[in-house]
Amino acid sequence: MKIETRNLTKNYMLPHNQEVKVLKGINVSINSGEKIALTGPSGAGKSTLIHILGLMDKPTSGKVLIDGEDITNFSATKLAKMRKENIGFMFQFHYLLADFNVLENVLMPVWENKKEKTKDALNLLDIMGLTNRINHMPSELSGGEQQRVALARALINNPKVLFADEPTGNLDRETGKVIETLMFEMCGEKNMTLVLVTHSPELAEKADRSINIMDGTIK
Ligand SMILES: Nc1ncnc2c1ncn2[C@@H]1O[C@H](COP(=O)(O)OP(=O)(O)OP(=O)(O)O)[C@@H](O)[C@H]1O
Ligand SMILES: [Mg+2]
Repeated sequence: MKIETRNLTKNYMLPHNQEVKVLKGINVSINSGEKIALTGPSGAGKSTLIHILGLMDKPTSGKVLIDGEDITNFSATKLAKMRKENIGFMFQFHYLLADFNVLENVLMPVWENKKEKTKDALNLLDIMGLTNRINHMPSELSGGEQQRVALARALINNPKVLFADEPTGNLDRETGKVIETLMFEMCGEKNMTLVLVTHSPELAEKADRSINIMDGTIK
């Protein structure tokens, strides 16, 4: 799946008609299977950009093209379907559902097929080293374990693209490394595209290339 943007902008409206210009004309082209590190200072617009690339938010102007097709004006239903079939997301905070156990959380994106998908979920949890934690509730896990569950959940629909927004930002270095390595391995094996927001130069070095965003434009 190829993802491109054409002159993408995003403005937020604040009270009293004040406007914040966050993205100021972004042109990117991300090829299928590429591992991209998205870097830049705090407030530069990294999260805003991956939310748009991941079809979770709409730009103010400009276009997003998926395999050459302009999807900017697709309906919410069509975008949701596209997202579900193609995209996995991992955030800085895990957003696991507190009332569901580990296995159920991994199955959440495919809940309507949870019976058929249980084997895949158990397999992913095994790769994540969590076989002995499948019945735990999120509050009964360490931070690193929670993020590994979130990674398994992001991968359960076999996405073509994994977006990760500082997924190891809240973890100690060692734990972060384990998860980063898993992420790169999984993406490499499945030829999955990875777009990773990171402040870590080490992590950016593992990627095929970096996109550096500063003050809403690519530098
Ligand atoms: N809903 C919103 N309303 C108004 N301004 C917003 C909104 N969301 C983000 N912003 C502003 O847009 C700018 C970019 O935010 P964004 O979250 O994309 O930055 P970032 O590069 O991900 O930063 P960080 O590294 O701190 O996560 C920030 O200045 C932020 O205050
Ligand atoms: Mg951010």
